[in-house]
Amino acid sequence: AGNRTFTMIKPDAVESNNIGNILQMITDAGFTIKAMKLRRLSEDQAKKFYEVHAERPFYMELVEYMTSGPIVAAILEKDNAVADFRALIGATDPAEAAEGTIRAKYAESKAKNAVHGSDSDENAAIECAFHFADEEIVG
Ligand code: CMP
Repeated sequence: AGNRTFTMIKPDAVESNNIGNILQMITDAGFTIKAMKLRRLSEDQAKKFYEVHAERPFYMELVEYMTSGPIVAAILEKDNAVADFRALIGATDPAEAAEGTIRAKYAESKAKNAVHGSDSDENAAIECAFHFADEEIVG
């Protein structure tokens, strides 16, 4: 039980063969995987997912990067899932991410930062629904 967050293992971390290492860190930290898939986002899907960043200077770079290769999308469950997962992944910029965090270990840069984590319960619900139908989520 607990509540949910949404994550993506981003194209850089898939490309560098770190899917397994990152999933191991996630489950070692006490998260339960409730849904998971490997998928390649279309340009339209990436634009929609990152709509909140549409006015940022890095938006097109972000869309291009997130469509450059497959990602792993997953729904994770744990008490305090959103905050605990953000602590596990570390700061957006790997240079500022705490030692032992997923981004400190596996991110390449502020843009190619290995993983996504929802920033609120509300966005977690929106992001889970963006990637998964109800029947793809285990009970
Ligand atoms: P995330 O926090 O998961 O969602 C927004 C993403 O935008 C962020 O990860 C980075 O991948 C990307 N991003 C944030 N800041 C920058 C930046 N300055 N330049 C390029 N990409 C960025």
